[in-house]
Order: sequence, then C-alpha cells, then structure tokens
Amino acid sequence: MTAAQRNCLADALVAGYDVLRRSASAVNAVEATIRILEASGLFNAGVGSRLQLDGARRMDASIMEGRRLRAGAVAAIEQVRHPITAARIVMEETAHVLLVGESATRFARHFKLERQPLPTRAKRNASRAMVRSQGQASELQRKTLRLYRAMSGRNTAELGTVGAVALDRSGTVAAGASTGGVALMLPGRVGDTPLIGCGVYADDAAGAVSMTGLGESIIRLAVAKEIADRLEAGVVPATAARLVLDKLVARMHGAAGALVLRTDGRFAIRHTTPHMCAGYWLGAGKPVVKDKFE
Ligand code: GLY
Repeated sequence: MTAAQRNCLADALVAGYDVLRRSASAVNAVEATIRILEASGLFNAGVGSRLQLDGARRMDASIMEGRRLRAGAVAAIEQVRHPITAARIVMEETAHVLLVGESATRFARHFKLERQPLPTRAKRNASRAMVRSQGQASELQRKTLRLYRAMSGRNTAELGTVGAVALDRSGTVAAGASTGGVALMLPGRVGDTPLIGCGVYADDAAGAVSMTGLGESIIRLAVAKEIADRLEAGVVPATAARLVLDKLVARMHGAAGALVLRTDGRFAIRHTTPHMCAGYWLGAGKPVVKDKFE
C-alpha cells in the first residue's frame, strides 16, 4: 500500500464516520466513503478503474441497506465518476435492483451524475502493456485473452475493488462496493460487485458484508449472503468470514477479502489474499489502516 492510498483510506473512514456522527444513515456513510475512493484514482474503482480488453472502462457498483432490504446496483456502466451514486439512485428512485450497460449509463445521465471522460490514450497504452506482459497471467486468463483475440481479431489488453460497511445510530447496517473489475476481462464481463448476495449484502437481522476479490469465485458461492447467514445464526464476524473464505479456497481456489459488520457493532476484516488494504475507525484517535488483517 502506498502512502497516498493509506491517507486516502484514512480520509474516507473519517468522512464516513462524520456522516454517522451527524446522525445520518448508514447508506449515506457508505456512499460518502466509497465516493472518496472512486474519485481518488488510487484504487480500481471510478477514476482508477481497470479497462476491459477492448479498451473500455466498464464499472460495477452496488449498495444495500438492512432495515428494509433495499438494494441498487449498476453493471458495465461507463463515463460516470461515481458508480456508487448511480447504484444508490437505482435503489431509491426505481422499482428495480440492477441496471446494466448503456442503459445504466443513460440512467446516470438522466440524473445528471458527474461524468468521467473516456480513458486517455496513456491509460489504454498502459492497459495494453499489461496484457503484453501476460507472463504472469493464469492459464484461464491467457485463455480469455486468446478467446478475445479470436473473437475480435485485435491484439490488445490490460490489468481491487473498493467497499464499505456501516452501522448507524438507528441500528441499521449498510454495505456497498464499486469496481473496475479484474485483469484481462472480456468486454461485457461482470463480476460479483453488482450482484446482491455475492459482492454485498446487508440485513439488520444479521449484519453487513462487502467483498473484494475474484468475482468469478465469489459469485459461485454467493459469499456475502453466505457470511450474512452465519451472522444471523449468531456466529461472530471473524469466524463467519473465516469459515466462508476457507470454503471459497477449498472448493474453488478463490481469492477474496471481506468486510463484515454485525448489527451489535462487532466487525472483522479477513482475506485469503496475502494483503488487503482496509481500515476502520471508531471515532477516537486515528483511523486504523493496514494491509494485513488476521
Ligand atoms: N470483485 C471484483 C470483480 O471481480 O469484478
């Protein structure tokens, strides 16, 4: 983790906590926190999002609140600076949960959400260079790249997710996440982040969960809901996260990190990856920001 990332995470935690201190909702706090991370360009979300293999920046985001189980999400949205806000508007202004692609982008335009310019030439070049150095890619990623080349006749390519959970004074929890996806994505690929129950879940009877990691494995275990179910059964957050993450690794060699918060305020940050840049703040002293949690 760079110093800039550490500072940005601390700023985002303070901003989110300030929202809660003013007695605003957990949803407000989650959105405010994620907006800072999206705008920073320091993480794989919003401004810093990865590009898909065709050079497009398609982003996913979702948000959920635990009192009425309301949720909103966008997938493959483009040219929007804050996909998390688009997800929130889906939750609050529509009868739907998930909008995708060009229609999601048009929806964001309708609500006059701040625009994000198309990826610069420098960003596209960096993305291609990453694909060319595919020596580090897994066999499955190389297969994806070969498939894309065969489909499009083009020879291009490139190379985490941000999230937050919060508990407000009324006892309501919320979870959110926003991402530019993973390395070597086929155009149109959607990960776990906008899928409720996979990338995020929030239920006041259980708690709030936000996931990072390889979406293809997180989706198949519906990880966020699986962790929430354990919270509802009375399991503490650290154990709930560990049980489900261990299953993810054992069953499909998945790689993921989880932010887990129970409605009684107990929380845990756990990951199967060597590092996970994350933090928490309880309102006194300095926010805790680390890249390893055990
Ligand atoms: N967890 C982010 C993604 O797989 O897209």
